[in-house]
Amino acid sequence: MEATIELVASENYISKDQLFALGSILCDTTIEGYENKRFLWASSFVDEIENASIEAARSLFKAKYANVQPHSGTQANQAIFKALLQPDDCVLAMSPDSGGHFSHGGKGTIYKDWIKFITYGVDANTGLIDYNLIFRLAKKHRPKIIFVGASSYPRTFDFEELKHISESVNSYLIADIAHVAGLVATQHFPHPFPYVDIVTTTTYKNLRGPRGGLILTNNKSLANLIDAAIFPGIQGTPLVNTIAAKAIAFSEAMQPDYYQYSEDVLLNARFLSDFFLNRGIPILTGGTDTPLFVLNFKSFETSVKTIVHELRNLGINTNACPVPGDASFEQAHGLRIGTSAITTRGFRIEECEILGNIISDVIISTEKKSLAQSKIEGYKEILNNICQQHPIYPIC
Ligand SMILES: Cc1ncc(COP(=O)(O)O)c(C=O)c1O
Repeated sequence: MEATIELVASENYISKDQLFALGSILCDTTIEGYENKRFLWASSFVDEIENASIEAARSLFKAKYANVQPHSGTQANQAIFKALLQPDDCVLAMSPDSGGHFSHGGKGTIYKDWIKFITYGVDANTGLIDYNLIFRLAKKHRPKIIFVGASSYPRTFDFEELKHISESVNSYLIADIAHVAGLVATQHFPHPFPYVDIVTTTTYKNLRGPRGGLILTNNKSLANLIDAAIFPGIQGTPLVNTIAAKAIAFSEAMQPDYYQYSEDVLLNARFLSDFFLNRGIPILTGGTDTPLFVLNFKSFETSVKTIVHELRNLGINTNACPVPGDASFEQAHGLRIGTSAITTRGFRIEECEILGNIISDVIISTEKKSLAQSKIEGYKEILNNICQQHPIYPIC
Protein backbone atom coordinates (compact mmCIF):
# COMPACT_ATOMS: atom_id res chain seq x y z
CA MET A 1 0.00 0.00 0.00
CA GLU A 2 2.80 2.38 0.92
CA ALA A 3 4.23 2.19 -2.62
CA THR A 4 0.81 2.61 -4.27
CA ILE A 5 -0.63 5.96 -5.29
CA GLU A 6 -4.31 5.61 -4.48
CA LEU A 7 -6.57 7.49 -6.88
CA VAL A 8 -9.67 5.33 -6.41
CA ALA A 9 -12.26 7.85 -5.23
CA SER A 10 -13.68 5.72 -2.43
CA GLU A 11 -10.30 5.26 -0.73
CA ASN A 12 -8.75 7.18 2.13
CA TYR A 13 -6.49 6.70 5.15
CA ILE A 14 -7.96 6.98 8.65
CA SER A 15 -6.22 8.43 11.69
CA LYS A 16 -4.24 6.37 14.17
CA ASP A 17 -6.88 7.11 16.82
CA GLN A 18 -9.50 5.48 14.61
CA LEU A 19 -7.21 2.52 13.93
CA PHE A 20 -6.81 2.15 17.68
CA ALA A 21 -10.59 2.21 18.24
CA LEU A 22 -11.15 -0.35 15.49
CA GLY A 23 -8.57 -2.71 16.95
CA SER A 24 -9.69 -2.22 20.56
CA ILE A 25 -11.52 -4.62 22.87
CA LEU A 26 -14.77 -3.05 21.64
CA CYS A 27 -14.65 -5.51 18.77
CA ASP A 28 -15.36 -8.23 21.35
CA THR A 29 -18.68 -6.67 22.40
CA THR A 30 -21.99 -8.06 21.14
CA ILE A 31 -25.05 -5.85 21.53
CA GLU A 32 -28.41 -5.52 19.77
CA GLY A 33 -30.91 -2.69 19.41
CA TYR A 34 -30.70 0.78 20.90
CA GLU A 35 -30.15 2.34 24.35
CA ASN A 36 -32.90 1.35 26.84
CA LYS A 37 -34.28 -1.05 24.21
CA ARG A 38 -31.41 -3.50 23.79
CA PHE A 39 -32.30 -7.06 22.83
CA LEU A 40 -28.84 -7.95 24.08
CA TRP A 41 -27.59 -6.16 27.17
CA ALA A 42 -24.91 -3.49 26.78
CA SER A 43 -22.75 -1.86 29.44
CA SER A 44 -23.41 1.83 30.01
CA PHE A 45 -19.95 2.38 28.52
CA VAL A 46 -21.23 1.10 25.16
CA ASP A 47 -24.29 3.37 25.38
CA GLU A 48 -21.96 6.28 26.00
CA ILE A 49 -19.93 5.43 22.91
CA GLU A 50 -22.99 5.13 20.68
CA ASN A 51 -24.44 8.37 22.07
CA ALA A 52 -21.12 10.19 21.55
CA SER A 53 -21.08 8.99 17.95
CA ILE A 54 -24.69 10.08 17.37
CA GLU A 55 -24.03 13.48 18.95
CA ALA A 56 -20.90 14.04 16.87
CA ALA A 57 -22.75 13.05 13.65
CA ARG A 58 -25.66 15.36 14.49
CA SER A 59 -23.39 18.24 15.25
CA LEU A 60 -21.16 17.71 12.18
CA PHE A 61 -24.08 17.54 9.75
CA LYS A 62 -26.47 19.80 11.69
CA ALA A 63 -29.16 17.12 11.84
CA LYS A 64 -31.62 16.29 14.60
CA TYR A 65 -31.39 12.49 14.35
CA ALA A 66 -28.59 10.12 13.38
CA ASN A 67 -28.32 6.36 13.12
CA VAL A 68 -24.67 5.30 13.30
CA GLN A 69 -25.25 1.54 13.05
CA PRO A 70 -25.35 0.85 9.28
CA HIS A 71 -22.53 -1.54 8.39
CA SER A 72 -22.14 0.08 4.98
CA GLY A 73 -23.52 2.68 2.59
CA THR A 74 -25.52 -0.01 0.82
CA GLN A 75 -27.14 -1.04 4.09
CA ALA A 76 -27.94 2.58 4.93
CA ASN A 77 -29.77 2.75 1.58
CA GLN A 78 -31.44 -0.62 2.09
CA ALA A 79 -32.81 0.67 5.39
CA ILE A 80 -34.43 3.57 3.50
CA PHE A 81 -36.17 1.10 1.19
CA LYS A 82 -37.28 -1.02 4.15
CA ALA A 83 -38.50 2.04 6.08
CA LEU A 84 -40.43 3.80 3.32
CA LEU A 85 -41.53 1.41 0.58
CA GLN A 86 -44.36 -1.04 0.01
CA PRO A 87 -44.13 -3.68 -2.76
CA ASP A 88 -44.60 -2.20 -6.26
CA ASP A 89 -43.76 1.34 -5.15
CA CYS A 90 -41.67 3.33 -7.60
CA VAL A 91 -38.13 4.67 -7.00
CA LEU A 92 -36.60 7.33 -9.23
CA ALA A 93 -32.79 7.45 -9.13
CA MET A 94 -29.80 8.39 -11.25
CA SER A 95 -28.87 5.89 -13.95
CA PRO A 96 -25.56 4.01 -13.51
CA ASP A 97 -24.15 5.44 -16.77
CA SER A 98 -24.77 8.96 -15.43
CA GLY A 99 -22.93 8.14 -12.21
CA GLY A 100 -25.70 6.66 -10.02
CA HIS A 101 -24.99 3.90 -7.50
CA PHE A 102 -26.51 0.40 -7.64
CA SER A 103 -27.65 0.63 -4.00
CA HIS A 104 -30.35 3.08 -5.11
CA GLY A 105 -32.23 0.16 -6.71
CA GLY A 106 -32.39 -1.65 -10.01
CA LYS A 107 -30.56 -4.45 -11.74
CA GLY A 108 -28.87 -7.01 -9.54
CA THR A 109 -30.15 -5.63 -6.22
CA ILE A 110 -32.36 -7.26 -3.61
CA TYR A 111 -35.18 -4.80 -4.42
CA LYS A 112 -35.29 -5.33 -8.17
CA ASP A 113 -38.24 -7.75 -8.05
CA TRP A 114 -40.47 -5.80 -5.72
CA ILE A 115 -40.12 -2.16 -6.74
CA LYS A 116 -40.51 -0.29 -9.99
CA PHE A 117 -37.14 1.29 -10.69
CA ILE A 118 -36.96 4.30 -13.02
CA THR A 119 -33.78 6.21 -13.80
CA TYR A 120 -32.95 9.75 -14.81
CA GLY A 121 -29.80 10.79 -16.62
CA VAL A 122 -27.79 13.80 -17.61
CA ASP A 123 -28.15 16.27 -20.47
CA ALA A 124 -26.39 14.85 -23.54
CA ASN A 125 -24.65 18.16 -24.35
CA THR A 126 -23.58 19.44 -20.95
CA GLY A 127 -23.29 16.18 -19.01
CA LEU A 128 -25.16 17.93 -16.18
CA ILE A 129 -28.22 16.57 -14.36
CA ASP A 130 -31.34 17.21 -16.40
CA TYR A 131 -33.82 18.57 -13.82
CA ASN A 132 -36.58 18.93 -16.43
CA LEU A 133 -36.28 15.24 -17.16
CA ILE A 134 -36.51 14.41 -13.43
CA PHE A 135 -39.64 16.56 -13.23
CA ARG A 136 -41.23 14.86 -16.23
CA LEU A 137 -40.38 11.35 -14.95
CA ALA A 138 -41.65 12.21 -11.47
CA LYS A 139 -44.97 13.46 -12.87
CA LYS A 140 -45.34 10.34 -15.00
CA HIS A 141 -44.31 7.64 -12.50
CA ARG A 142 -45.23 9.28 -9.13
CA PRO A 143 -42.23 7.74 -7.29
CA LYS A 144 -42.42 7.17 -3.55
CA ILE A 145 -38.70 8.00 -3.34
CA ILE A 146 -36.44 10.24 -5.41
CA PHE A 147 -32.78 9.45 -4.82
CA VAL A 148 -30.06 12.00 -5.52
CA GLY A 149 -26.40 11.18 -5.11
CA ALA A 150 -23.76 9.46 -7.17
CA SER A 151 -20.59 7.46 -7.46
CA SER A 152 -19.12 9.19 -10.46
CA TYR A 153 -21.09 12.38 -11.12
CA PRO A 154 -18.63 15.22 -10.45
CA ARG A 155 -20.93 18.20 -9.95
CA THR A 156 -23.17 19.70 -7.27
CA PHE A 157 -26.90 18.94 -6.94
CA ASP A 158 -29.61 21.57 -6.84
CA PHE A 159 -31.32 20.28 -3.70
CA GLU A 160 -33.80 23.15 -3.68
CA GLU A 161 -34.98 22.39 -7.22
CA LEU A 162 -35.22 18.69 -6.34
CA LYS A 163 -37.31 19.58 -3.30
CA HIS A 164 -39.80 21.41 -5.56
CA ILE A 165 -39.99 18.34 -7.77
CA SER A 166 -40.42 15.85 -4.91
CA GLU A 167 -43.04 18.03 -3.22
CA SER A 168 -45.00 18.36 -6.45
CA VAL A 169 -45.45 14.56 -6.57
CA ASN A 170 -45.48 13.94 -2.82
CA SER A 171 -42.39 11.74 -2.75
CA TYR A 172 -39.55 11.44 -0.26
CA LEU A 173 -36.29 13.07 -1.32
CA ILE A 174 -33.18 11.16 -0.22
CA ALA A 175 -29.62 12.45 -0.69
CA ASP A 176 -26.78 9.93 -0.72
CA ILE A 177 -23.67 12.05 -0.11
CA ALA A 178 -21.16 9.20 0.11
CA HIS A 179 -18.52 10.83 -2.09
CA VAL A 180 -18.90 14.38 -0.81
CA ALA A 181 -19.76 13.94 2.88
CA GLY A 182 -16.60 15.67 4.09
CA LEU A 183 -17.16 18.58 1.72
CA VAL A 184 -20.77 18.89 2.92
CA ALA A 185 -19.54 18.98 6.52
CA THR A 186 -17.06 21.77 5.75
CA GLN A 187 -19.52 23.64 3.50
CA HIS A 188 -17.49 23.14 0.35
CA PHE A 189 -20.52 21.41 -1.20
CA PRO A 190 -24.21 22.42 -0.87
CA HIS A 191 -25.89 21.01 2.23
CA PRO A 192 -28.86 18.73 1.45
CA PHE A 193 -30.75 19.93 4.58
CA PRO A 194 -33.28 21.51 4.85
CA TYR A 195 -34.35 20.38 1.37
CA VAL A 196 -34.17 16.60 1.66
CA ASP A 197 -36.03 14.25 4.01
CA ILE A 198 -33.14 11.90 4.69
CA VAL A 199 -29.38 11.88 4.08
CA THR A 200 -27.43 8.64 3.76
CA THR A 201 -23.68 8.33 3.45
CA THR A 202 -20.72 6.07 3.82
CA THR A 203 -18.32 7.13 6.56
CA TYR A 204 -15.12 6.22 4.73
CA LYS A 205 -14.29 7.81 1.35
CA ASN A 206 -13.92 11.59 1.51
CA LEU A 207 -15.19 11.83 5.13
CA ARG A 208 -12.09 9.84 6.21
CA GLY A 209 -13.75 7.59 8.76
CA PRO A 210 -14.02 3.83 9.15
CA ARG A 211 -15.81 1.56 6.67
CA GLY A 212 -19.52 1.93 7.44
CA GLY A 213 -22.69 3.95 6.88
CA LEU A 214 -24.68 6.74 8.49
CA ILE A 215 -28.30 7.95 8.18
CA LEU A 216 -29.47 11.46 9.13
CA THR A 217 -32.85 13.14 9.27
CA ASN A 218 -34.63 16.04 10.95
CA ASN A 219 -37.95 14.24 11.14
CA LYS A 220 -38.78 12.28 14.31
CA SER A 221 -41.22 9.85 12.64
CA LEU A 222 -38.74 9.12 9.87
CA ALA A 223 -36.00 8.63 12.47
CA ASN A 224 -38.15 6.00 14.23
CA LEU A 225 -38.83 4.21 10.94
CA ILE A 226 -35.12 4.26 10.09
CA ASP A 227 -34.09 2.88 13.49
CA ALA A 228 -36.57 0.02 13.14
CA ALA A 229 -35.47 -0.61 9.56
CA ILE A 230 -31.82 -0.94 10.63
CA PHE A 231 -32.62 -3.09 13.66
CA PRO A 232 -34.32 -5.53 13.61
CA GLY A 233 -35.21 -4.78 9.95
CA ILE A 234 -32.01 -5.53 8.07
CA GLN A 235 -29.18 -5.78 10.59
CA GLY A 236 -28.36 -7.60 13.79
CA THR A 237 -25.49 -6.64 16.05
CA PRO A 238 -23.85 -3.31 15.35
CA LEU A 239 -20.06 -3.01 15.25
CA VAL A 240 -19.25 -1.13 18.46
CA ASN A 241 -15.58 -0.65 17.56
CA THR A 242 -16.64 0.92 14.24
CA ILE A 243 -19.21 3.13 15.98
CA ALA A 244 -16.39 4.38 18.25
CA ALA A 245 -14.17 5.04 15.22
CA LYS A 246 -17.07 6.89 13.56
CA ALA A 247 -17.33 9.13 16.66
CA ILE A 248 -13.63 9.96 16.31
CA ALA A 249 -13.96 10.59 12.56
CA PHE A 250 -16.95 12.96 13.02
CA SER A 251 -15.02 14.87 15.69
CA GLU A 252 -11.91 15.05 13.52
CA ALA A 253 -14.01 16.45 10.65
CA MET A 254 -14.97 19.40 12.88
CA GLN A 255 -11.33 20.45 13.38
CA PRO A 256 -9.67 23.30 11.43
CA ASP A 257 -7.13 20.97 9.82
CA TYR A 258 -9.97 18.94 8.29
CA TYR A 259 -11.38 22.16 6.84
CA GLN A 260 -7.99 22.77 5.24
CA TYR A 261 -7.98 19.16 4.04
CA SER A 262 -11.32 19.72 2.26
CA GLU A 263 -9.90 22.79 0.51
CA ASP A 264 -6.83 20.84 -0.58
CA VAL A 265 -8.88 17.86 -1.81
CA LEU A 266 -10.84 20.20 -4.08
CA LEU A 267 -7.76 22.15 -5.21
CA ASN A 268 -6.03 18.91 -6.16
CA ALA A 269 -9.11 17.54 -7.98
CA ARG A 270 -9.58 20.77 -9.93
CA PHE A 271 -5.89 21.10 -10.72
CA LEU A 272 -5.68 17.55 -12.06
CA SER A 273 -8.91 17.70 -14.08
CA ASP A 274 -7.76 20.98 -15.71
CA PHE A 275 -4.37 19.40 -16.33
CA PHE A 276 -5.88 16.48 -18.29
CA LEU A 277 -8.17 18.79 -20.23
CA ASN A 278 -5.16 20.88 -21.24
CA ARG A 279 -3.49 17.70 -22.46
CA GLY A 280 -6.47 17.03 -24.72
CA ILE A 281 -8.06 14.30 -22.60
CA PRO A 282 -11.82 14.92 -22.29
CA ILE A 283 -13.30 15.21 -18.79
CA LEU A 284 -17.03 14.63 -18.11
CA THR A 285 -18.75 18.02 -17.56
CA GLY A 286 -15.38 19.72 -18.19
CA GLY A 287 -14.28 19.66 -14.54
CA THR A 288 -15.42 18.96 -11.00
CA ASP A 289 -17.02 20.34 -7.81
CA THR A 290 -16.17 17.19 -5.86
CA PRO A 291 -13.16 15.07 -4.85
CA LEU A 292 -13.53 13.08 -8.07
CA PHE A 293 -13.66 13.54 -11.83
CA VAL A 294 -14.02 11.24 -14.82
CA LEU A 295 -11.81 11.00 -17.93
CA ASN A 296 -13.93 10.15 -20.94
CA PHE A 297 -12.38 7.63 -23.34
CA LYS A 298 -15.30 7.44 -25.77
CA SER A 299 -13.20 8.92 -28.58
CA PHE A 300 -10.13 6.75 -27.81
CA GLU A 301 -9.13 3.45 -29.39
CA THR A 302 -7.48 2.30 -26.16
CA SER A 303 -9.84 0.64 -23.69
CA VAL A 304 -10.15 1.95 -20.14
CA LYS A 305 -9.21 -1.51 -18.88
CA THR A 306 -5.85 -1.18 -20.65
CA ILE A 307 -5.22 2.23 -19.08
CA VAL A 308 -6.18 0.96 -15.61
CA HIS A 309 -3.77 -1.93 -16.16
CA GLU A 310 -0.88 0.29 -17.39
CA LEU A 311 -1.31 2.66 -14.45
CA ARG A 312 -1.56 -0.23 -12.02
CA ASN A 313 1.76 -1.49 -13.38
CA LEU A 314 3.25 1.85 -12.28
CA GLY A 315 1.67 1.59 -8.82
CA ILE A 316 -1.16 4.06 -9.58
CA ASN A 317 -4.60 2.78 -8.60
CA THR A 318 -7.65 3.98 -10.56
CA ASN A 319 -10.90 2.37 -11.70
CA ALA A 320 -13.16 2.21 -14.73
CA CYS A 321 -16.70 3.59 -14.56
CA PRO A 322 -19.49 4.00 -17.11
CA VAL A 323 -20.05 7.30 -18.91
CA PRO A 324 -23.40 8.41 -20.39
CA GLY A 325 -24.52 5.94 -23.05
CA ASP A 326 -22.47 2.98 -21.76
CA ALA A 327 -24.69 -0.09 -21.54
CA SER A 328 -22.80 -1.81 -18.72
CA PHE A 329 -19.81 -1.68 -16.38
CA GLU A 330 -18.04 -4.18 -18.63
CA GLN A 331 -18.12 -1.70 -21.51
CA ALA A 332 -17.25 1.35 -19.41
CA HIS A 333 -15.49 4.28 -21.13
CA GLY A 334 -14.75 6.33 -18.02
CA LEU A 335 -11.67 6.44 -15.81
CA ARG A 336 -12.57 7.76 -12.35
CA ILE A 337 -9.94 9.63 -10.41
CA GLY A 338 -10.31 10.82 -6.80
CA THR A 339 -8.02 12.97 -4.69
CA SER A 340 -9.20 12.18 -1.14
CA ALA A 341 -6.49 9.62 -0.33
CA ILE A 342 -3.50 11.37 -1.93
CA THR A 343 -4.45 14.62 -0.19
CA THR A 344 -4.50 12.86 3.21
CA ARG A 345 -1.05 11.63 2.31
CA GLY A 346 0.14 15.18 1.82
CA PHE A 347 0.14 15.46 -1.97
CA ARG A 348 -0.30 19.06 -3.09
CA ILE A 349 -0.11 20.80 -6.49
CA GLU A 350 3.59 19.94 -6.94
CA GLU A 351 2.95 16.18 -6.62
CA CYS A 352 -0.29 16.42 -8.64
CA GLU A 353 1.62 18.04 -11.49
CA ILE A 354 4.07 15.13 -11.56
CA LEU A 355 1.15 12.66 -11.42
CA GLY A 356 -0.74 14.53 -14.15
CA ASN A 357 2.32 14.47 -16.42
CA ILE A 358 2.92 10.76 -15.94
CA ILE A 359 -0.72 9.70 -16.27
CA SER A 360 -1.37 11.79 -19.36
CA ASP A 361 1.84 10.54 -20.96
CA VAL A 362 0.82 6.93 -20.25
CA ILE A 363 -2.61 7.56 -21.78
CA ILE A 364 -1.35 9.37 -24.87
CA SER A 365 1.55 6.96 -25.46
CA THR A 366 -0.71 3.93 -25.02
CA GLU A 367 -3.14 5.40 -27.54
CA LYS A 368 -0.21 5.92 -29.97
CA LYS A 369 1.15 2.46 -29.05
CA SER A 370 4.48 4.05 -28.12
CA LEU A 371 4.80 3.47 -24.37
CA ALA A 372 8.46 2.43 -23.96
CA GLN A 373 9.70 0.16 -21.15
CA SER A 374 12.51 2.64 -20.37
CA LYS A 375 9.92 5.35 -19.72
CA ILE A 376 7.97 3.03 -17.43
CA GLU A 377 11.06 2.31 -15.34
CA GLY A 378 11.81 6.05 -15.05
CA TYR A 379 8.25 6.78 -13.95
CA LYS A 380 8.34 4.00 -11.36
CA GLU A 381 11.41 5.58 -9.79
CA ILE A 382 9.83 9.06 -9.66
CA LEU A 383 6.60 7.70 -8.14
CA ASN A 384 8.49 5.62 -5.63
CA ASN A 385 10.35 8.72 -4.46
CA ILE A 386 7.11 10.64 -3.97
CA CYS A 387 5.64 7.74 -1.97
CA GLN A 388 8.70 7.65 0.26
CA GLN A 389 8.42 11.40 0.87
CA HIS A 390 4.77 10.95 1.91
CA PRO A 391 4.44 7.90 4.15
CA ILE A 392 0.82 6.88 4.82
CA TYR A 393 1.36 6.66 8.58
CA PRO A 394 4.38 8.82 9.40
CA ILE A 395 6.25 7.62 12.49
CA CYS A 396 5.90 10.30 15.16
C1 LIG B 1 -22.95 7.03 -3.82
C2 LIG B 1 -22.69 5.73 -3.11
N1 LIG B 1 -23.60 5.26 -2.26
C3 LIG B 1 -23.43 4.10 -1.60
C4 LIG B 1 -22.28 3.36 -1.77
C5 LIG B 1 -22.19 2.02 -1.10
O1 LIG B 1 -21.28 1.96 -0.10
P1 LIG B 1 -20.79 0.56 0.49
O2 LIG B 1 -19.79 0.03 -0.46
O3 LIG B 1 -20.22 0.95 1.83
O4 LIG B 1 -21.95 -0.33 0.64
C6 LIG B 1 -21.29 3.82 -2.63
C7 LIG B 1 -20.04 3.03 -2.78
O5 LIG B 1 -19.13 3.27 -3.43
C8 LIG B 1 -21.50 5.03 -3.32
O6 LIG B 1 -20.60 5.48 -4.20
